[in-house]
Amino acid sequence: ALPRDLAGRHVVVSAGGTREALDPVRFLGNRSSGRQGYALARVAAQRGARVTLVAAHTADLPDPAAVDVVRAGSAAQLQAAVHDAAQDADAVVMAAAVADFRPVDLAVDKIKRGDAEPEPLRLAQNPDILAGLVRERAPGQVVVGFAAETGDASGDVLHHGRAKLRRKGCDLLVVNAVGDGKAFEVGENAGWLLGADGGESEIPNGSKALLASRVWDAVVERL
Ligand code: C5P
Repeated sequence: ALPRDLAGRHVVVSAGGTREALDPVRFLGNRSSGRQGYALARVAAQRGARVTLVAAHTADLPDPAAVDVVRAGSAAQLQAAVHDAAQDADAVVMAAAVADFRPVDLAVDKIKRGDAEPEPLRLAQNPDILAGLVRERAPGQVVVGFAAETGDASGDVLHHGRAKLRRKGCDLLVVNAVGDGKAFEVGENAGWLLGADGGESEIPNGSKALLASRVWDAVVERL
């Protein structure tokens, strides 16, 4: 049985990939399945937490038992939902793959093929939701980010992760190597757990539930 060490706590987890609309039928999206975020939510509920799962687009995953699920499509919707849920949260884990950019223009009608060259896509930067959470958090709230990094040598990935942890200002950052069939759209995950206190531990390849347990262990230490 899992420890009930999150009993009495409210935790917020974001999961899945946001979609930024181009027209009524098209979007910019990413390959996130939501499985890691769902595993985080499920494990937190099993450890006794009240859990709000803010879910962007995911693979066809069942709602985890005893978890409040809030749906969000775009990065802007996800930001609003996470911000609301975070107000009284003890911990927020941003496992969602948030689009960094959105199209400047949203076409009211479906964009048609024409004879002329297509217009270049104009993009605007989305807000960094994680950085915003860190700026606005209540004292004592633990904020956790994820970083999906590509890199040949694993050293690259760690190096990027350390820089990102500092830049975002969160308490913990899970760094995953992605690309080559790693992490996205699969059942297993591996990486490093980096702490703002300088702590670093490797998470060996295993189930996403196992990685979730390691994240909650580190959160509980900081609550
Ligand atoms: O900078 P990068 O996108 O790699 O950062 C990943 C982390 O930041 C994840 O925790 C993700 O949920 C979060 N993020 C965010 N808002 C964005 C982009 C990423 O909160 N616009």
